[in-house]
Amino acid sequence: MIAMPADVKSLIQEGADLTDRTLEALIPTTDIVPASIHGAMRHSVFAGGKRLRPVLAMQAGVTIAGHLPRGIERLGAAIEMLHTYSLIHDDLPALDNDDLRRGKPTCHVAFGEAIAILAGDALQTRAFEVLSGLSCPPAATVQIVGLIANAVGTVEGMIGGQVLDLESEHLKPTPELVEAIHRAKTGALIRVSVVAGGVYAGATAEDVARLNRFGRKAGLAFQIADDVLDMTADSATLGKTPGKDQATEKATWPAVYGVEQSLRDAAELIDEAFAALAPYGSRADGLKAVARYLVERKN
Ligand code: IPE
Ligand code: IPE
Ligand code: MG
Ligand code: MG
Ligand code: MG
Repeated sequence: MIAMPADVKSLIQEGADLTDRTLEALIPTTDIVPASIHGAMRHSVFAGGKRLRPVLAMQAGVTIAGHLPRGIERLGAAIEMLHTYSLIHDDLPALDNDDLRRGKPTCHVAFGEAIAILAGDALQTRAFEVLSGLSCPPAATVQIVGLIANAVGTVEGMIGGQVLDLESEHLKPTPELVEAIHRAKTGALIRVSVVAGGVYAGATAEDVARLNRFGRKAGLAFQIADDVLDMTADSATLGKTPGKDQATEKATWPAVYGVEQSLRDAAELIDEAFAALAPYGSRADGLKAVARYLVERKN
């Protein structure tokens, strides 16, 4: 993969294809017992996700190393497993109760709740198994495992954000509450995708601080865009059921600020995020292009 192909769509497509091939090799097939859970894991992983977190990790690697670091696709694949686990659980009847995901029936609709819960769990443990065997120096591997475990955890991480999101349904959302939810439930995994990609490529402590600043803003912008799409896109484009947030009175960015202001906020956050990448010059062009796509996407 080159650092900056002419258009971001081909850059994302290349990264997504590489991620898909890697996931194919890393997730057990249905001829391995127990077949049902491997079928469920594969159903959700290969349902057509955009693979934006792996692509962010890859482009952060390019930003630090100046080229795509060898083996970084396994880091991206592990992050995508964690993301897919979060989606399977997010869709469960006990959480958002959705029946459409990535244009396909959700995992629990296709395989039943018990197998869906276990498929999410299994993607999480498989992700950490893959992370433990990354090809970067051992100290970087240990750092990446710790950073990612923290980002999916309860303190300002994905699970903590999901708890806040659920407990805030039907409450009047405040700016502070929505920001806390978004930074945690979605922002943390986006941020750590960028940081871990950098660490894989040999980032210094200063690089890590810059990538954290960038990823924090880009992660918040991503969830603002998700909230807007829930209100403005149709189900065929989105691959999930639109209008769910209003129906369940979720604490979303547009619920506080309206759609127009949300779009402006997302675009502004991306501009602000770019400032952290100034020292990398054109090496960060791919990462910036993907970040811009996070808020300009249509699904
Ligand atoms: C959707 O994430 C779930 C959120 C965290 C808001 P994506 O929009 O990246 O979903 P996929 O992976 O492309 O399906
Ligand atoms: C989900 O947020 C975030 C995680 C899966 C951690 P949403 O509930 O808004 O995601 P969608 O819209 O169902 O994809
Ligand atoms: Mg949710
Ligand atoms: Mg949801
Ligand atoms: Mg949403």
